[in-house]
Amino acid sequence: MADFKAFDKTSKVLITGAAGFIGFHLARRLLSLGASVLGFDNLNDYYDVSLKESRLAILGRFPRFTFVKGDLADEKAVMGLFESFHPDIVVNLAAQAGVRYSIDHPRSYIDSNIVGFFNILEACRRHKVAHLLFASSSSVYGNQQKTPFSTADNVDHPISLYAATKKSDELMAYAYSHLYGIPATGLRFFTVYGPFGRPDMAYFKFANKIRRGEAIQIYNHGDMYRDFTYVDDIVTGIEHMLCNPPRKNELGDAYKVYNIGNHQPEQLMHFIEVLEQALGKKAKKEYLPMQPGDVYQTYADVSELQRDFDFKPETTIEEGLGKFAQWYKTYYK
Ligand SMILES: NC(=O)c1ccc[n+]([C@@H]2O[C@H](COP(=O)([O-])OP(=O)(O)OC[C@H]3O[C@@H](n4cnc5c(N)ncnc54)[C@H](O)[C@@H]3O)[C@@H](O)[C@H]2O)c1
Repeated sequence: MADFKAFDKTSKVLITGAAGFIGFHLARRLLSLGASVLGFDNLNDYYDVSLKESRLAILGRFPRFTFVKGDLADEKAVMGLFESFHPDIVVNLAAQAGVRYSIDHPRSYIDSNIVGFFNILEACRRHKVAHLLFASSSSVYGNQQKTPFSTADNVDHPISLYAATKKSDELMAYAYSHLYGIPATGLRFFTVYGPFGRPDMAYFKFANKIRRGEAIQIYNHGDMYRDFTYVDDIVTGIEHMLCNPPRKNELGDAYKVYNIGNHQPEQLMHFIEVLEQALGKKAKKEYLPMQPGDVYQTYADVSELQRDFDFKPETTIEEGLGKFAQWYKTYYK
């Protein structure tokens, strides 16, 4: 059994991107445990804002939840959060997500993921926090052939600006951790799915098209593998880490990056079949070539997660997509 501390519910946790998919699920878990959570989000319209509002409405039922609307790129707004709330733990999930969108909208990635994250680092420097956790992504592995993807692998070959900003976040956090003694943990998430998910992601788009009887677009003619990870597993992984800042490494820096993925790459066509079964309807299909920025496969090595937190994601796509479909049918009637 790994030696780690359970989440201390007296901790005050700042979650940026709390109206987002993962931020919402994490906030709800911590609030259910009795913690105080300050959520921050700019509620941008990258995808349906009403979904973000629905998530916030659920979080708003918890008396210990406070929400501030603002932009990470706004230095004063970010500093103000720390001055008023004095967080013990910061989880930075706010970002411009999505690989394909970064091809046509590069600037929003620099604003949110680089300038925005820099503001978080500066605020952590001025207001000491016990632990900073931040979202990175499996996309940092680019088109790596070697599997599974390990945090020891060289990730100097991003194939999208999104991936480049996430790798940059890891480097900036390392430098701040080293210079100012900020304990920091980077989280490389692998294709997260589940209820209240992101409408820009493939499984959600597929569900929309299946509902409307339209053809779904299947890239690289279906020859792709993704390590699909159910959102509750991501949240459990983060929950285990919150009160366990990294031990100092051999260079004396309290910094660590973890993969959080299902370590079970699924063939895209099989994933679609399971989704069709869960939704109770077959999809019309349109087969297309690979898209720029897309990677062929993702596959997480989670041995460090298992070693340090005695945990690895276990939810099968049958179970996870079943829960997604149940939510989807109720939400969209
Ligand atoms: N979902 C996945 O599969 C996945 C995979 C790898 C990494 N990630 C990363 O995990 C994090 C959370 O992802 P998600 O799937 O919940 O995405 P999401 O888009 O649902 O959530 C991000 C939230 O951040 C907010 N936001 C964006 N820019 C902001 C800014 N400048 N200021 C304030 N708020 C801002 C958005 O309004 C949104 O609500 C992101 O950093 C993402 O890059 C997600």
